[in-house]
Amino acid sequence: MSEIRQIGVLTGGGDAPGLNAVIRALTKSAILRHRLRVIGIMDGFSGLVDLKTEELELRDVRGILPKGGTILGTTNRGNPFKYVERLSDGTERIIDASGIVKENFTRLGLDALVVIGGDGTLAIGRELMEQHGIPVVGVPKTIDNDLARTDRTFGFATAVGVATEALDRLHTTAESHHRIMLLEVMGREAGWIALHSGIAGGADVILIPEIPFSLEPVIAKIWARQNRGSAFSIVVVAEGAHSKDGDQVFQSVDPVTGWKRLGGLSYQLAPVLQDKTGHEVRVTVLGHIQRGGTPAPLDRILGTRFGCEALNLVMRGEFGNMVALNGEDIVAVPLAEATNRLKLVDPQGQLVANARALGVVFGDEDPDDVLDSE
Ligand code: F6P
Repeated sequence: MSEIRQIGVLTGGGDAPGLNAVIRALTKSAILRHRLRVIGIMDGFSGLVDLKTEELELRDVRGILPKGGTILGTTNRGNPFKYVERLSDGTERIIDASGIVKENFTRLGLDALVVIGGDGTLAIGRELMEQHGIPVVGVPKTIDNDLARTDRTFGFATAVGVATEALDRLHTTAESHHRIMLLEVMGREAGWIALHSGIAGGADVILIPEIPFSLEPVIAKIWARQNRGSAFSIVVVAEGAHSKDGDQVFQSVDPVTGWKRLGGLSYQLAPVLQDKTGHEVRVTVLGHIQRGGTPAPLDRILGTRFGCEALNLVMRGEFGNMVALNGEDIVAVPLAEATNRLKLVDPQGQLVANARALGVVFGDEDPDDVLDSE
């Protein structure tokens, strides 16, 4: 194995609170323990196409632990295999720029590349290693917590905390006005944020992508609560949820990359619920509030551990792996295994069963059972 002297690090895809903790841990341990040079690559893989880099020194990572976002910048339009090139006439076209990435990796004198991102970013890292021989180590990130082969991703704890606080706040105003409050949270394919915040925030209904819903049991739940003297209800909606006979609701599709911007399901549900229950309904779409701002302590700790262990993988030459949380331990997992499927909520699992035991409705129940059980 060749000696490691200089490593590159980049963040790709949507940001997540805790990214800076990873960058800080990686940089500090690389410099202090191994005397390496660390090159920060700006705006994801596009920094390796356009050569936007900055050497990271200790002073650059000072004070960034409590900062949200990423000091390196990021983009979800930076896939070098399908690179969006802007032409002089303002139009865009897709090219394969992965060869340029390889050239620039060599030109920069990098010995390894640490890629911090979600399934898309990690899959690109894997492809760069397979097709161009770039030695890659991955660090999994997403507030959605839907990456396979790791028990948790950093950013999730912060997002759940923000969503739970929103539910606490919605409760008091819902009760005062006898309203139904819909809180739409992030979660494209997986309902982890909705499920966890819904349980922590005492929601009455939780709609998640893994359990296609119909509105009848939701309406039955609201009536049942009304009959028992609770003239308000709290509904958590994951943005990627969909009805039994409907599709996910999205606001727009990127014409070049095909990326769907989800969101808006709650606005479709609100008038139906208002009509069928007689209650006023209000919608709150939490959006990027869940992703921005100060990372929760758990995300800082996980990010720090991931950063240190990612560097250990680099130093041991264990490329083609990502770091992952397995129980209490950080372990190495092949990128191929981490990027070929998502980690979804198990509709038959314990967490869903526990919520159901408390009377939480997921939209797949028989409406009569919901009324009877209240
Ligand atoms: O994957 C993380 C995520 O936060 C999703 O929950 C959400 O759908 C998406 O990113 C939003 O992406 P953008 O920041 O591009 O709107």
